[in-house]
Amino acid sequence: MVLPGAKNTLRRRAFFVTGIKALAGLFGLGLGIPLAGFFLSPALKKGRQEWISIAEVTQLRDGEPTKITYRYARKDGWRMSETRRMAFVLKQADGGVMALTNRCTHLGCGVDWNSVTQRFTCPCHGGAFDAQGRVLEGPPPKPLARLPVKVEADTIFIQDAYA
Ligand code: FES
Repeated sequence: MVLPGAKNTLRRRAFFVTGIKALAGLFGLGLGIPLAGFFLSPALKKGRQEWISIAEVTQLRDGEPTKITYRYARKDGWRMSETRRMAFVLKQADGGVMALTNRCTHLGCGVDWNSVTQRFTCPCHGGAFDAQGRVLEGPPPKPLARLPVKVEADTIFIQDAYA
């Protein structure tokens, strides 16, 4: 036997319970989505190419590549670290500036510029490149990689190839 009004009380109670659950769900989504984005976004982001200031144009030698060592802060997911790299920068005949990585295109050893022979040489397997990074001899399959470079008010900026 159902008491008079009991059915209405049950319906009202079910309505309030459903309403409270819906509000709790909305509140949870309101907090959960931004929190999930905050914690997951560093892992999902691809390396952003930033311009790194590496030298002044006045530091460059005339007629041959200048070795520049630079550091920059690198973000890998949630971890920040400082990375040290090396590049060779060369003034071009037209007044422009070119930047090359120091990584040999054979197996990645560090090449160095030899002022006497006027070529980059790789200590690992004898690869050699000219001042423009073109292969002269040895096993390297392609030229040294060029880095994006720009000059602003005499300051040279590059984008790191491995950022
Ligand atoms: S790594 Fe440079 S020649 Fe092999």
